[in-house]
Amino acid sequence: MFLLILLLFCFTIFAFVVTNKGAGEKISGKGYKEYRFGDYSNWLQKRVDKNWNRIHSCLQDSKICDTLMQESNTKADDFFKEHLSALQSGCCKPSNDCNFQYVSPTNWTSTSTSSTTNPDCSIWRNDPKVLCYGCQSCKAGLLDNVKSDWKRVAVLNIIFLVFLIIVYSIGCCAFRNNREDNAWKRYP
Ligand SMILES: *[C@@H]1O[C@H](CO)[C@@H](O)[C@H](O)[C@H]1NC(C)=O
Repeated sequence: MFLLILLLFCFTIFAFVVTNKGAGEKISGKGYKEYRFGDYSNWLQKRVDKNWNRIHSCLQDSKICDTLMQESNTKADDFFKEHLSALQSGCCKPSNDCNFQYVSPTNWTSTSTSSTTNPDCSIWRNDPKVLCYGCQSCKAGLLDNVKSDWKRVAVLNIIFLVFLIIVYSIGCCAFRNNREDNAWKRYP
């Protein structure tokens, strides 16, 4: 039980360290946040990179961008006020710094002022199967979800840990008292 407590303690510390870094960035004048892959913990980045092929095709088959695709008549101003989930913000629209011209949430035209420094901008396609699923911002959106899940696990772990420590202490006390009682009976 002591080993279990020790292991759980180490894992909890690790989970907090891993989820400590990275958060969405507020974009001025927009209701949604944007996410950058490099902001998150290196360890999580590596795990996502390693499995990215599978995650990528899984995201492509998912319906995360469907609600945005249905909003084809939404005006730019209304869309910019919307709140988007991390995955929607990262995978379904181009980054803000691409300066693309808005047509609909999932249809944008590249302009002459478009940034070329962000590699995501050249990955973007209006094709519903492509969009920004291959972007770094999409990885970042996924990482943000993973991070929130880990944080929840870490908090649950602490509760469980406190419970285990209480049980362990009671057990230890009972064991010691029992031994002292017996010792006293045996040697009056
Ligand atoms: C994007 O909008 C343009 C202009 O309205 C349209 O011609 C094009 O077919 C649209 N693309 C997609 C993939 O919906």
